Amino acid sequence: MAVRPNELFAVATLSIALVSYLLFSHQLSSLLPWRKPHKISNKKRKGRRGLVDAIGNTPLLRINSLSEATGCEILAKAEFLNPGGSIKDRVAVKIIEEALEHGDLVEGGLVTEGSAGSTAISLATVAPAYRCKCHVVIPDDAAIEKAQIIEALGANVERVRPVSITHRDHFVNVARRRALEANELAKKHEIKDAGISQGNSKGGFFADQFENFANFRAHYEGTGPEIWEQTEGNLDAFVSAAGTGGTVAGISRYLKEKNPNVKCFLIDPPGSGLFNRVIRGVMYTREEAEGRRLKNPFDTITEGIGINRLTNNFMMAELDGAYRGTDKEAVEMSRFLLRNDGLFVGSSSAMNCVGAVRVAQTLGAGHTIVTVLCDSGFRHLSKFYNPQYLADLGLTPTATRLEFLNPPRVSQSR
Ligand SMILES: Cc1ncc(COP(=O)(O)O)c(C=O)c1O
Repeated sequence: MAVRPNELFAVATLSIALVSYLLFSHQLSSLLPWRKPHKISNKKRKGRRGLVDAIGNTPLLRINSLSEATGCEILAKAEFLNPGGSIKDRVAVKIIEEALEHGDLVEGGLVTEGSAGSTAISLATVAPAYRCKCHVVIPDDAAIEKAQIIEALGANVERVRPVSITHRDHFVNVARRRALEANELAKKHEIKDAGISQGNSKGGFFADQFENFANFRAHYEGTGPEIWEQTEGNLDAFVSAAGTGGTVAGISRYLKEKNPNVKCFLIDPPGSGLFNRVIRGVMYTREEAEGRRLKNPFDTITEGIGINRLTNNFMMAELDGAYRGTDKEAVEMSRFLLRNDGLFVGSSSAMNCVGAVRVAQTLGAGHTIVTVLCDSGFRHLSKFYNPQYLADLGLTPTATRLEFLNPPRVSQSR
């Protein structure tokens, strides 16, 4: 039977309409990866965790100035982009989630921490997302803006004199005590209220970032895999300074497991014993041990890095060597990055970049070296970016290029 032209036209029109509908319908959109479905399934919505979802997965930036100067690809994780402003957001989330999972912390409970700043800011930032409260104890020589931020975030801040870790009033020991006190209070309430919660005392949990392996795991399960994926496994070295050691340990261990040829290094600020530990196997002379010194043992203007005791977290690190960095190098590096790359970074990030250049000088051109930009310069206005403060210490930056890192130092390997 012959098909009439107007029948043919009708069939063609119908077919086009059907294909168009399918192409733009929700069913087909799932088959086309460039089209996102409009509807979010209930399952997906439940999986979302609010602010916490914005933590991690930071960009891996190429530091153009340092890459061009060294002939290496120098890449850095932009951790200052986390919502709480530093790499410690990852640690805060991991510590709280693990504590909740294990029942060491309950909703409405109090998280306590002894921190020179960043971890406290991160805990104060994320605690409300878990309906918890936060109490932080910090040494009173830490930059004032950090205490102000923590208070503004709604946490309690207790500022104490900087003393040795062996002293009962070291900020870490005070924080541990505050969690115990909160637990005792909760017990008393339980007895008094015969099991009826008054809602004002749910107990405390000491975050203990130095010894708590959740810190290591935050980087072993998060930052390390991200670096591996973002470089597609094409990296030769990783370098970082250490405070608790969580960053350098978690990342170095993960990268070494993926490829034992990736070289991992520590960059250590003045006054810290970790360089000696990595190079010589001993941390300090007897006189230098924490607890034997009369004053604060740290002799650096960098914040959050350098330590004179071995922490659980640092012990997990897999290192091939270490470098020493000076305060002057960190200050000069920060200004170099600002002038050449528009990067406004904190003191530990600047020290990490000093480390990246030292590694580049050791390995030679053509290598890919990864480091971490822990936080931004906004938290360091009163010290690291204060011209008068630096002038009083003879640390006024004067370099025009990277001449402050010459001559290259020889690799320090075990
Ligand atoms: C700003 C900043 N950078 C670096 C570090 C060191 O990282 P980690 O404790 O993982 O060794 C810290 C630690 O508190 C810090 O606050």
